[in-house]
Amino acid sequence: MSNEIRIAVVTGGGHGIGRAICRRLSRDGIRVIVADLEAAAASTVAADIDGVAHSVDVSDEAAVQALVETTERDIGPIDLFVSNAGVGYGDADSNAASKQGGMNPVDDRWTQCWNINVMAHVYAARALLPRMIERGGGCFVNIASAAGLLSQIGDAAYSASKHAAVAFAESLAITHGEQGIRVSVVCPQAVATRMIGIEDDAGTTDGGFGGNDVDGILAPDEVADCIVDGIAEGRFMILPHPQVATYLQRKSGDYDRWIAGMQRFRRQLMGDEG
Ligand SMILES: NC(=O)c1ccc[n+]([C@@H]2O[C@H](COP(=O)([O-])OP(=O)(O)OC[C@H]3O[C@@H](n4cnc5c(N)ncnc54)[C@H](O)[C@@H]3O)[C@@H](O)[C@H]2O)c1
Repeated sequence: MSNEIRIAVVTGGGHGIGRAICRRLSRDGIRVIVADLEAAAASTVAADIDGVAHSVDVSDEAAVQALVETTERDIGPIDLFVSNAGVGYGDADSNAASKQGGMNPVDDRWTQCWNINVMAHVYAARALLPRMIERGGGCFVNIASAAGLLSQIGDAAYSASKHAAVAFAESLAITHGEQGIRVSVVCPQAVATRMIGIEDDAGTTDGGFGGNDVDGILAPDEVADCIVDGIAEGRFMILPHPQVATYLQRKSGDYDRWIAGMQRFRRQLMGDEG
């Protein structure tokens, strides 16, 4: 990892991909602020890596602002901000536009996905971008998903919000790249975390994703390594599953054909239920 990066914040650092990123950055000699909604999980990871735990709800703009301000006051300038916290709930009753239900019912899954998967990235940029520009540079890494380039069958709110996350990262890079702001967006397919039903430390990359894992399930550590390589190479688009680039070309080459193919894939996944 570049020696320009001394201090990094990782949201959703308490579990899964975020935890793996925290551990990898720490091994590279970077001081890591482990920020998570789950204070206990953040503390456990921070204790492991001699980092700093910070309890935060990234869908609360004032809380994200406080995360940035406290870190810069008490620890030092943030060189890298990894917006990793994210949620997905699944469509209720196979209805792409429904508000409630799914795997993990909340009042309005669309609002939750929008606030956590998109606005949290905007809040981080609002809080940190002016500081980074004044210092002459900095790095944002936004964890989106292959669903933000293609689609997540069975989760419309997740797919739409991850597309928005990719679009926001593009705007950040286009608008601020020449001011020394480096931006990467990460678009994995399946990764072995609680999000797809695999517990931290389960030590397996098997199962959990009901046939959606066509190109295999990666371990969080593999994704973290891929992200660090991507940052070091200065890449905007980081694809831990390289097949996603081909799917994206097929989609943009013939959109109607791609939709028909996805409908077939959905029928296959749903069996008779869909
Ligand atoms: N696992 C996958 O297959 C997969 C694939 C593509 C993209 N992603 C993305 O990777 C990112 C990390 O997910 P993961 O798979 O590690 O899931 P995970 O559920 O294991 O971890 C998510 C972490 O985010 C935290 N979090 C959730 N809401 C929060 C909030 N409001 N404020 C602060 N922290 C919050 C959780 O406490 C948890 O520690 C997400 O953005 C997810 O969409 C995951």
